[in-house]
Amino acid sequence: MNKPKLVITRKWPKSVEDQLSALYDVQLNATDIPMMDAELKHALQTADALLPTVTDKITADIINVPNKRAKIIGNFGVGYNNIDVAAAKEQGLIVTNTPHVLTDCTADIAMLLLLMSARRAAEGSRMIQNQQWPGWCPTQLVGQKVTGKTLGLIGFGRIAQAMAKKAHFGFDMTILFYAPSAPAQDSIDNLQATRCNTIEELLAISDFVSLHCPGGVTTQHLINEQRLKLMRPTAHLINTARGDVVDSKALIKALKHHWIAGAGLDVFENEPHIDPAFLNLDNVTLLPHLGSATEETRVAMGERVLQNINAFFTNKEPGDRVV
Ligand code: DGY
Repeated sequence: MNKPKLVITRKWPKSVEDQLSALYDVQLNATDIPMMDAELKHALQTADALLPTVTDKITADIINVPNKRAKIIGNFGVGYNNIDVAAAKEQGLIVTNTPHVLTDCTADIAMLLLLMSARRAAEGSRMIQNQQWPGWCPTQLVGQKVTGKTLGLIGFGRIAQAMAKKAHFGFDMTILFYAPSAPAQDSIDNLQATRCNTIEELLAISDFVSLHCPGGVTTQHLINEQRLKLMRPTAHLINTARGDVVDSKALIKALKHHWIAGAGLDVFENEPHIDPAFLNLDNVTLLPHLGSATEETRVAMGERVLQNINAFFTNKEPGDRVV
């Protein structure tokens, strides 16, 4: 019997590519150059499964390509706003993602950005690298203390709760959150967290605001100029979720005019394009979408895709089915 054919759109950890290649007829992408729309369409027409990632925009136009052979899209990533899942559902395509395995590493990056922004670490690093450090002085690069401050989380899913755990137990921080639906009471109790009724309330009383909501139409520009103006002038905004949750033009204005003290960003609207205005600001820390970028996590993500694909091709329900 012929092995099912899979198309992997980007280079993956070698150990996972090897495991997949042992079981399936796999088309790898050794160049690691993102595939064009026409190539993605062709993949859906010629392979049994497409394995994309956040850099592949799997639009309705791509999904609706005629004469499809593919039955499943196994996304390498927990976020799946890169895929038009409604169109996939309509076309009878299964979509899976990779939850759980990247929770802690992404929360680590959120915490890293919080600390870097509060303590002006990126500014200090740039100063040394540009050979502009005049030596220690009492008023140089004075930031804000983190321990004991208030962290407001927008979204209270796995990654938000993992960050809250690090912040509460590691830095004695008070945890606030806003979430549209009520989380399990024991996770609230464990973190002694307080639920805010509105985003506005959370923004007004948090020293740090960290975003943990999905991207896409429902959360696009959730953080806009009006909401940034509600934050404290000493507060910092952290985004490890998706770039489009924040109106970047409004954030640039907020940072320029010091409506807020700083921002730490791991994700951007229109990645990998970065609004050049960010590059001229001292009070922003920029990372290149590093949330899940550890060896262990990237292997675990690949293995999670493999488990979902294996389930599907042995007529079982994939564990991480989204639609
Ligand atoms: C995720 O898993 O959602 C990461 O942001 C990479 O896509």
